[in-house]
Amino acid sequence: MKFLIIFFVLFKIASGASENDTEIVHVQIVSNHGVRTPLAQYPDNPNNIWSKYSRSTGQLTDVGMRQMLKSGRKLRAKYPHLSKTYDRTRAWAFSSDFDRNIQSAQLIMTGMYQPSEGYANWTDDSTLSGFMPIPIRTAPSECDTIFRRHATCARLIQLQAEAKLNNSAKENASTAFLYKMRCMSSIELTYYDLWKLGDKALVDAAHNLTVEMYITQNLPRLMEIRDDNYFVTYLYSMELAKLISGSLLNQLVTYFDRKIKATTDNEFYLYTGFEFYLGGLQRLLGTTTNFMQPDFGAQFSFELRKNSTNNYFVHTLYKNHADEEFKTVNISGCEAFCPIEKLKTLVQDKIIINFDDACKAI
Ligand SMILES: *[C@@H]1O[C@H](CO)[C@@H](O)[C@H](O)[C@H]1NC(C)=O
Ligand SMILES: *[C@@H]1O[C@H](CO)[C@@H](O)[C@H](O)[C@H]1NC(C)=O
Ligand SMILES: *[C@@H]1O[C@H](CO)[C@@H](O)[C@H](O)[C@H]1NC(C)=O
Ligand SMILES: *[C@@H]1O[C@H](CO)[C@@H](O)[C@H](O)[C@H]1NC(C)=O
Ligand SMILES: *[C@@H]1O[C@H](CO)[C@@H](O)[C@H](O)[C@H]1NC(C)=O
Ligand SMILES: *[C@@H]1O[C@H](CO)[C@@H](O)[C@H](O)[C@H]1NC(C)=O
Ligand SMILES: *[C@@H]1O[C@H](CO)[C@@H](O)[C@H](O)[C@H]1NC(C)=O
Repeated sequence: MKFLIIFFVLFKIASGASENDTEIVHVQIVSNHGVRTPLAQYPDNPNNIWSKYSRSTGQLTDVGMRQMLKSGRKLRAKYPHLSKTYDRTRAWAFSSDFDRNIQSAQLIMTGMYQPSEGYANWTDDSTLSGFMPIPIRTAPSECDTIFRRHATCARLIQLQAEAKLNNSAKENASTAFLYKMRCMSSIELTYYDLWKLGDKALVDAAHNLTVEMYITQNLPRLMEIRDDNYFVTYLYSMELAKLISGSLLNQLVTYFDRKIKATTDNEFYLYTGFEFYLGGLQRLLGTTTNFMQPDFGAQFSFELRKNSTNNYFVHTLYKNHADEEFKTVNISGCEAFCPIEKLKTLVQDKIIINFDDACKAI
């Protein structure tokens, strides 16, 4: 009996905190935008993207908009205990300064704070019944303190060039394939443009459009190269990933602290950016070792939780596509419910506080 009790106590300690003995105090969501139009024009494109998608390159499509609204509704269903109505002291949305990210933020927030009876009753225009406009915070790329990838950064350019040089064996091994794809697509592609063809396949498929035969026939190779292009450009070294997502990670950790110190009532933060911001977090936090380019609508959910003795934990969840469900991921070196102090120690050399210093070329 004594043995059993000791065993039980040990087991309790080893298993750490869990969903059931902690409550959510706030949630920070990092989201990729929804599906968008392709990023290049395809001369021989049988789909004629301009008439099929009726938007210019890189814009959120109707399908993408529906994905984002649904994504917000799913967050509402997952977090029913968060305030149901929008309150500026409880919910904030940040977006990087690109149309598809700002629109995604608006739709996720609309899904999260759904129109409801008696709420947002500010107009007698019935077509807008219950609609609450929610502010989205953004800043020009050069001044943005969260989404840094498009700011001038000499060290970033240096690291990307070095990474491509180090990856030249893989690039050289694809030379024949590259020439073939150039010929088939009639686009002057480089190895680091090949991802666009895999990207087009994903976009067309999301809109039930026929994908060109030369893309379908070479899809596994194109997707492999797409992941390679992405990894080399954004995640090749820890320092590179840090320049991409270290400022965002600093923001997340800073906001955990603010909540713990009770200097804010805020319980929901949304950050919408590009897939490489999620990839950068995956690399910095070590939530995976298999780096594939996050798909449209991919999301991280960082739940700050506390147990009944006021100890705080971060529970991290990830989904790779708008239509997937969240799954728990472990931050490397930590349990699924990572004690906040341990988390802060693990990320202390992964966050960026002074971006200008970090961007100095060496
Ligand atoms: C938490 O509680 C639910 C419902 O009571 C139960 O199904 C689940 O197994 C529990 N989880 C853990 C980790 O104890
Ligand atoms: C909305 O506002 C109008 C005009 O002030 C009012 O007549 C109506 O009862 C309100 N509806 C709800 C559901 O509160
Ligand atoms: C490229 O390879 C060299 C030599 O192995 C290494 O020192 C350097 O850190 C690599 N560059 C990047 C960006 O990883
Ligand atoms: C790849 O090809 C380039 C140009 O021909 C060459 O300079 C480089 O050394 C090659 N890289 C490798 C790893 O063979
Ligand atoms: C594509 O086809 C599937 C299966 O028929 C359907 O469920 C989906 O709504 C279609 N999507 C679009 C954008 O038309
Ligand atoms: C809360 O978490 C701390 C740190 O893991 C632990 O020491 C404490 O026993 C937990 N409290 C309860 C009531 O489980
Ligand atoms: C994550 O950590 C939990 C302990 O908190 C462990 O049970 C689980 O196996 C870990 N999952 C992975 C994928 O390492």
